[in-house]
Parts: sequence; structure tokens; C-alpha cells
Amino acid sequence: MKRTLLLALALSPLVVLAADDDPIPQRQDLMSDTREALKPLIGMSRGQVEFDAATVSDSLAVFATTAEKGPALFPEGSESGHDTEARDTIWSDPDGFQQRFTDFADAVAAAQAADIQSLEGLKAELNGVLGTCKGCHDDYRVEKD
Ligand code: HEC
Repeated sequence: MKRTLLLALALSPLVVLAADDDPIPQRQDLMSDTREALKPLIGMSRGQVEFDAATVSDSLAVFATTAEKGPALFPEGSESGHDTEARDTIWSDPDGFQQRFTDFADAVAAAQAADIQSLEGLKAELNGVLGTCKGCHDDYRVEKD
């Protein structure tokens, strides 16, 4: 009885993993969340949305999550399927790709450390973060739209 229970407990996370194992939709969802978090910041920087420090802070937290979870979501074997826009350079140049995640994480950490409280402060940090999105996309993503 006890053994069965232990076994069930030991196996259950594996079952969950197997059902929800595909890293491609996970990374696509993560990136979509990232874009959604970016939208209000772009709106603020263009003067279309009122500056709000709490929103900025929330968006930066989403970016930090992307930087933290992203690197593990591109394992070997996830090169194709789900209309992935991942480029084969991710696997031919894994160090370079990981470095882009580090660059992104650093830019996000710098923006968080700047404790943005004004539109000027946002503008000062946003380009640095966006540059790291673009830097990675340019070399490691094929845009299919
Ligand atoms: C280290 C590399 C890297 C960084 C940094 C990065 N991305 Fe991406 N992004 C990718 C890759 C690779 C894909 C393609 C994923 C796929 O389709 O499997 C992608 C896909 C996307 C997509 C399409 C998602 C979908 O629905 O398929 C959006 C939107 C996106 N990224 C936004 C961003 C934004 C905004 C940032 C910065 C705030 C960012 N990304 C930073 C590598 C990166």
C-alpha cells in the first residue's frame, strides 16, 4: 500500500510532464506573453498610453521570467513542428544563443535596477531591452508572417 502510494507520487510529475512536454508551444506562449507585456511600454514611450510605474515594473517582471525560462525551452529535437520560427542557428551555435539570453537578462536586470519612475526613465532603458530582443531575433528566429 505504502509502496504503491510512493510509486504513484513518484510517477505523477512524469505523467504531467509527458502530457505537457512539448517545449515549442511553451516557448511560443512565453514569447507571446513577452510581446503582450511590451505593448503598454511601447504605448507609453509613444505618448499613447499614460506612464504608469507599476505597469512598467510588471512588464519587466514578465521579461525576467522569459529570460529565466527561455533557455531551457530550446532542447535538441525541438527544431521543427508547431510552425516554429526557431532558426537552426540555435542548435548550430548554442553558446551564441545562450549568450543572447544572458544579454537580454542583463538588460532587463539593468532596467529593473534603474527603478523607473518616469517616462524619461522608461525611454532611457527601453531601447536597451528592445535591442536584445531584436539582436536575438535577427540571428536565431525566422519571422514567418
Ligand atoms: C535569446 C533569444 C530571444 C530573445 C532575447 C527574445 N526572443 Fe522572442 N523569440 C525567439 C525565438 C527563437 C522565437 C521563435 C520561437 C518558436 O517559434 O519556436 C521567438 C518568438 C517570438 C515571438 C513570436 C511568438 C509566437 O507566437 O510564435 C514574439 C512575439 C517574440 N519572440 C517577442 C519577443 C520580445 C518582445 C522580446 C524582448 C522583450 C523577445 N522576443 C526576446 C528568441 C528570442
